[in-house]
Amino acid sequence: MKGDLFALSVAKDGEYSNLLIKRPEYRELVTFAKCKREPIYNWFYYKEGYSGELVWNLLRELNIEKNSTVLDPFCGTGNTLLACKQVGYNAIGFDILPLSVFVSNTKLQEGYDLELLHEKIREITRLKFGETRLKWPDLKFIDIRKSFSRYARKDILFFKERIMEIEDEKIRNFMLLSLLSIVIPSSNIKRDGGVLKIVKKRHLPPVRHLFKNKLKRMYRDLKRARPFPRGTVAEARLGDARSLPLRPESVDACITSPPYLNWVDYTKVYGLELALLVGPEEIEVLRKRSIRSHVGAECRRRIGLRSKRMEEILDKISEKPGFVKHPQVVEGYFDDMYMSMRSIHRSLKEGGKVALVVGNVCLPSITIDTDLILAELAEDIGFRVKEILVANARWCDVYGIRKERPVRESILIMEK
Ligand SMILES: C[S@@+](CC[C@H](N)C(=O)[O-])C[C@H]1O[C@@H](n2cnc3c(N)ncnc32)[C@H](O)[C@@H]1O
Repeated sequence: MKGDLFALSVAKDGEYSNLLIKRPEYRELVTFAKCKREPIYNWFYYKEGYSGELVWNLLRELNIEKNSTVLDPFCGTGNTLLACKQVGYNAIGFDILPLSVFVSNTKLQEGYDLELLHEKIREITRLKFGETRLKWPDLKFIDIRKSFSRYARKDILFFKERIMEIEDEKIRNFMLLSLLSIVIPSSNIKRDGGVLKIVKKRHLPPVRHLFKNKLKRMYRDLKRARPFPRGTVAEARLGDARSLPLRPESVDACITSPPYLNWVDYTKVYGLELALLVGPEEIEVLRKRSIRSHVGAECRRRIGLRSKRMEEILDKISEKPGFVKHPQVVEGYFDDMYMSMRSIHRSLKEGGKVALVVGNVCLPSITIDTDLILAELAEDIGFRVKEILVANARWCDVYGIRKERPVRESILIMEK
């Protein structure tokens, strides 16, 4: 991180700004970059994920004892859970999306019958193309016909139908994850920030070619993987971070990253893969239930709680013509984050530590210091905010708007 960008990212007046500590060694680790090269972590591309190495560093930095239970209330594709399980920590994760929970739990599976898996891979990859009874649903946010060639569209469903016939649950999950991971690479879709764009890709490989290669790579990862330490339990469950179904004071630590306030709607960005797991009506419901970081989420409860910094931001935004929905989203986001942090606080044992990875927001002429606002809200809940590790400070890449200051990506370190 260039020193001056960090300095420029800090507003002059800032309460809690004294807690900001430059930690450029975390810059790459808070992104998905390292996962792309790591076995198992790279089984499903989840741009919003962070690396296992980040989790191992935080476990050390927070002095979390082995065999403790670590919570990730926004577990995404389960990288916290996997990293914990690999080094002897128990972990429990929650996510609102069935896709995330499925991917997480499949990455955590152990005790495969490798011979049977090998045989099933050979069987399925030798199948000739056949008809299928399955159909793609009509999705409001993307045109399936334009998203795939006719062959790709059918082939994905054909393989899904064959996979669902497999009796062995672990092998079935393994193969379904492999299929989900090649949906975008076999389509005419590009994920662009928060949206899916239909583009003409040149030399699009056939579904069966991508599927076979992915299965082979995943199988190789399993053969080479070290067994998980004995007795550690890690699991993802469907659940809402704002009301975690956990007993009070039942977890030792929390390492997590909520959705950033960047208008990204996960039910759209991962909508094609979701559509292979749940119906279109359920996708609409999930959109409404997700954290209010985008306009599609529904306002369920208003806390109406304000921090001084938030008041200032909301005033600035309200003055902007054309920002009709922005105040609602910003207010909703911090209400939801308040509820989530309160739920984490309740589940955490006394003295339990939290690492919360968050990104700040860049709007025309306005910077929202999410890290500092969350620090204020966290103290209101009863956390002691120890430090805010700044992994990155950069000029945001939204083209053509006036930028006030560089934005930070930070890790809030707190204690109950
Ligand atoms: C930044 S991602 C987490 C990525 C994760 N750290 C990883 O490495 O894969 C945030 C996650 O929060 C989930 N989410 C959104 N609203 C939620 C809610 N109300 N409760 C729980 N999870 C939610 C999203 O589905 C998304 O997977």
